[in-house]
Formats: sequence, structure tokens, C-alpha cells
Amino acid sequence: MKGIVLAGGTGSRLYPLTQVMCKQLLPVYDKPMICYPVATLMLLGIRDILIITTPEDVDPLKAYLKDGSHLGVNFSYEVQEEPRGIAEAFILGEDFIGDDSVTLILGDNIFHSPSLFKQIDLKKFQSQDGCQLFSYRVKDPERFGVLGFDKEGKVTSITEKPEHPKSNYAVVGLYAYSNDVVEKAKHLKPSNRGELEITDLNNQYLQESRVVNYAMPRGSAWFDAGTPRSLLAASQYVATTDMYQGLKISAPEEIALFKGYITRSQFEQHIASVKSCEYTEYLRGIAHEA
Ligand code: DAU
Repeated sequence: MKGIVLAGGTGSRLYPLTQVMCKQLLPVYDKPMICYPVATLMLLGIRDILIITTPEDVDPLKAYLKDGSHLGVNFSYEVQEEPRGIAEAFILGEDFIGDDSVTLILGDNIFHSPSLFKQIDLKKFQSQDGCQLFSYRVKDPERFGVLGFDKEGKVTSITEKPEHPKSNYAVVGLYAYSNDVVEKAKHLKPSNRGELEITDLNNQYLQESRVVNYAMPRGSAWFDAGTPRSLLAASQYVATTDMYQGLKISAPEEIALFKGYITRSQFEQHIASVKSCEYTEYLRGIAHEA
């Protein structure tokens, strides 16, 4: 399975923070925002990752993430000239996806759900037919794609930013598809706001009864860090776990080591190449503890 991080867009809701800074390099407590979606893909066992971003942000993101070898993954890069919709990722990523299945994650989505990731059978996840969605209970569903359910809890509708939401379950920015997503995306028509909508794509799978929904368990955290308020909330969440448990959320180097994507000596070499700081001390400590 391939992975795509969609890290484009104008970041207008974060202006003036994003006036000269790439949104996905803004800090979420102790690391750049892009680390979090990358870490989520790595936890899902995905090591071939395409970063799609704006013409302005591709160089800063490349300078930070490089080719991924220090994390035991491969990063490729693609430019999205204009924000023409989330579903355009599959058209821009066609060559990269090839004959594979693909998981898409939005560059500003932050997940923390150890129980969910333990619960998922990765082999099954990577070969599942159709579309796999993740949903999360929220207080303000009208801001998101929202699921409707029948009495048995089966998904019956997906509505983008509804005025009158049918439930409190938002579709989060993590979606997995079988290979036919590329053809489906190519046939999508732009919505009234001129975008290729991910919800239109998901509704096609729903009509074909090919949708699996993973409801994120109680105790999980999910943030769409696209506004100053949610960016702060995400930072506070990550900081609290760090300060009270001494554990970092979504440190890609730690995941690379524990998933076996890099050897201990590659891990140590990487840490040694970076100036000593609280982050590298944490990595040293956690590797020692293990
Ligand atoms: O965060 C989850 C929500 O994401 C879902 O519940 C919605 O169904 C889905 O449509 C999306 O809603 P948003 O209003 O958050 O989408 P937004 O346009 O803000 O885009 C989300 C991220 O994707 C943002 O970081 C920018 C990036 N993006 C977006 C578009 C439309 C791109 O890189 N290119 C694009 O063309």
C-alpha cells in the first residue's frame, strides 16, 4: 500500500502565521505539523509516501523531510498548482500509486489512538476492497464530512458540512482505498465551490456498498489543526502527554526504530548527526529503555 500526505492549500485560516511560512512546517508543540500525518502512515505500515504540496512549499518540505532514508521510508514529492480539491490527490498521484492500494492523509490532521492502531489488522487493512473511513465523535459536526447511520449502525450517508448533521460522527482526514480510486477520481465533477470533493468520491463507494467505517474508540484524540484554535489545542494535547507521561506523540524516528524500519545503529547515527537537545535526549532515552 502507498501513502499520500496532502499538504497543499493556502493555509488562509492560519493567516498571518502562514503569510511566509509553510503551514505544514508550523510547530505542533515540539515538532513540525507534517511529522504527525507521516507518523500515522508509518504506524499503518506504509513506507512509500508521496507528499503533495504547493509550488512554494515543496522546497521547504523537501529540506526538512529529505528522501526519508533516515526513517527507513521513501518520500517522493508532487506539486498541486491550485487547491482543486482533496480528491485531486489521486489524479496527481496516479503514477506513484501504480497498481497499489493507497491511503490518503491530510497534512493538518493529527491522530493519537494507540488502541485503534493496535486493533487494526494491517494485512487486512492494506488489502481491503473499497474505501475505509475513520470517524470521530465531535461537538461541532457541521464543520466536517458527517456520517449518517441506520439502526444497526451501518453507514447510510456521508454529507459534507451539513447544516443539520445526522450524527456527531465526523469523517476524519484519513482514507484508504483500493486501486480503482484513481479512475473514480478522474471521473469526478467539481462541486459548486469548484473542488473535487473527497465526500463525492466516498459516496460512490457507499452506493456500491464498499465502505468500511472505523469509529475511533473513546479516549482517542484527533485534531484538524487548520485554525489557530485547533492548532493550539493540538499543541496543548501533545505537550500534556509529554509533560506528564514523558512520552512524545508521533515522533517519526521513534516509530521507525520500533517498527524495525531502521536498525538501532542507523537510529543512533541519525541522532548523533543532530545537535543535542531535549528531543534527541528523549529519543536516546526511549531507545535505551526499550
Ligand atoms: O479534516 C477532516 C475534513 O477534511 C473532512 O471531515 C471533510 O469531509 C473534508 O472535506 C475536509 O474538510 P476541510 O474543510 O478541513 O478541508 P480543507 O479544504 O480545509 O482541506 C484540508 C487540508 O487539505 C488542508 O490542510 C489543505 C489540504 N488541501 C485541500 C484542498 C482542497 C490541499 O492540499 N489541496 C486541496 O486542493
